Amino acid sequence: MTEQSPTLDNLLTETRTFPPSEEFTAQANATVELYAEAEADREAFWTKQAERLDWDTRWSQVLDWSNAPFAKWFVGGKLNVAHNCVDRHVAAGNGDRVAIHWEGEPGDTRTITYAQLKDMVCQAANALTELGVRAGDRVAIQLPMIPEAVVSMLACARIGAAHSVVFGGFSATALKSRIEDAQAKLLITADGQYRRGKPAPMKANTDEATKDTPSIEHVLVVRRTEEEVPWTEGRDLWWHDVVERQSTEHTCEAFDAEHPLFILYTSGTTGKPKGILHTSGGYLTQAAYTHHNVFDVKPESDVYWCGADIGWVTGHSYIVYGPMANGVTQVMYEGTPNTPHEGRHFEIIQKYGVTVYYIAPTLIRTFMKWGAQIPGRYDLSSLRVLGSVGEPINPEAWIWYRENIGGGRTPIADTWWQTETGGIMISPLPGVTSLKPGSAQRPLPGISAKVVDESGQEVGRGGGGYLVLDKPWPGMLRGIWGDEQRYVDTYWSRFADQGYYFAGDGAKYDDDGDIWLLGRVDDVMNVSGHRISTTEVESALVSHPTVAEAAVVGASDPTTGQGIVAFVILRGDVAEDQAKGEEAIRALRDHVAQEIGPIAKPRQIMVVPELPKTRSGKIMRRLLRDVAENREVGDVTTLADSSVMDLISAGLQSDK
Ligand code: WT7
Repeated sequence: MTEQSPTLDNLLTETRTFPPSEEFTAQANATVELYAEAEADREAFWTKQAERLDWDTRWSQVLDWSNAPFAKWFVGGKLNVAHNCVDRHVAAGNGDRVAIHWEGEPGDTRTITYAQLKDMVCQAANALTELGVRAGDRVAIQLPMIPEAVVSMLACARIGAAHSVVFGGFSATALKSRIEDAQAKLLITADGQYRRGKPAPMKANTDEATKDTPSIEHVLVVRRTEEEVPWTEGRDLWWHDVVERQSTEHTCEAFDAEHPLFILYTSGTTGKPKGILHTSGGYLTQAAYTHHNVFDVKPESDVYWCGADIGWVTGHSYIVYGPMANGVTQVMYEGTPNTPHEGRHFEIIQKYGVTVYYIAPTLIRTFMKWGAQIPGRYDLSSLRVLGSVGEPINPEAWIWYRENIGGGRTPIADTWWQTETGGIMISPLPGVTSLKPGSAQRPLPGISAKVVDESGQEVGRGGGGYLVLDKPWPGMLRGIWGDEQRYVDTYWSRFADQGYYFAGDGAKYDDDGDIWLLGRVDDVMNVSGHRISTTEVESALVSHPTVAEAAVVGASDPTTGQGIVAFVILRGDVAEDQAKGEEAIRALRDHVAQEIGPIAKPRQIMVVPELPKTRSGKIMRRLLRDVAENREVGDVTTLADSSVMDLISAGLQSDK
């Protein structure tokens, strides 16, 4: 195991517990019996969860694991995901229920009921069909947080085309490689997006990405910021021209439970992002089941708000599929939390009477930095459940969240999961679990996870090791798009003998057997809840002409969890000229933003004469992390040249 950061150390000494209130338990969706029920018969349990959905054809087998690790859930079952997320609520008489209270960053708003959403999704489905998109095709989507993003995803689902949503902050290079990998036929984008109070162009970026992507037949453009955009006649089409003239009627087809629903790219330990493939029936079952129980949602009365972006899996499962399968009313916010002021989120909670609020620890820590007086100015008494996702939440942030946002009374669900798992896997159940700040606690009913040692043996209480998932689950990824072998190698080879899925996270059991997540054990960084691989940033750096070599580490950061720190060896002439060196560093940060996106910009770039390597040539990131975190450098005996670290430290000292 890698050594832990100081923030994580105090996780392990946390002992406070918060039992649920009787009032909450009395009305909770989840009950303690669920654990025993799932334990007694997993397949019967998941059968019952799948019955939350409308199926056109019932499945003949719950799970086919005969070709492990390639799973099939609800074999032979057929359903339409969009029908489940939209139409059936209208058919049940809930068409007037608000699906989305949308809040634009500049202050414009839209209210969309389920009946209106149905019309919008049907129109978009007709438009996609007119543009030649068919079941099995791929559609790339890069959009801001506007209702059309949800409508586009559901329209794809409705006609059986897999969407590949690319986060709005990703560069043209990143978008291009995702379009190429999935061979997307259509790109849906916008003229621009609002970011921190200003319109920023988007179409210019997507044009750059689609310069040389022959698979793209059309680009469908939503008008959002009303700025001038570059235009390719014949290829580019306005959403308002093509979608809004379509019929609001669209008869949907049922697709196989294993029909691809979406591809979502995520960083791995190598430079090339992985296209995580999710399918329909099992994924939607887990999204709906977890959303119902973990957030205790009551569709008739709750106003749910997940602050994620649609470009990440949290947006897929807990803005689009989970909440909509459950017919919930939700808030969708377009912008940044401090535009136009630092109370924006709390103002929105007060305005809509938000009851369930789900955000990332990095935002909680940002709120802490801004000060408790800010939420203190708003009426947040409507809140009754809080959620956290994306990285380990430190106990201080947990307590602050509960006190200052949750009024000292709301349960907090610290939800552990991944792009690959599709839905929440480990989390307390509000109303059932006695909460422990900083611990995700137990696998949900129906889900199985273990902490094991190097050899795959489960560790005992109080022991630490690697988190594995030892039984298949309905929302699990079905593979990596176009690369079956990489799927097997990445997730199933580490504990192949046991047949465990290796999550890439370190974890520990406490004395009660509750699980505490301790961060990644591989070369993946977690910056503000975003996964970025060290290799990805390294390859962006070395693709710049001034760089000879680069090593990247995630250094612990009080706000973002980890910050990206890069060590670079500059090429001869640049390295010697100090002015050129400074200029080069600025250029390098911009270069990384351009190659990957602004989220991958290193917090710090240090120019060094050498990198610490083992005799086999592997960079010892552990030592660089010591430098980045201002610690005394650890054991250097396995270095090929043990004086390298002195050289690095001396060089950095003289720069100060
Ligand atoms: C990685 C997955 C799950 C949606 C957002 C991120 C870390 C996620 C927690 C948590 C500790 C967490 C893990 C995981 N992570 N949630 N509650 N406690 N760590 O999805 O980008 O696929 O990243 O995020 O390291 O492996 P993702």
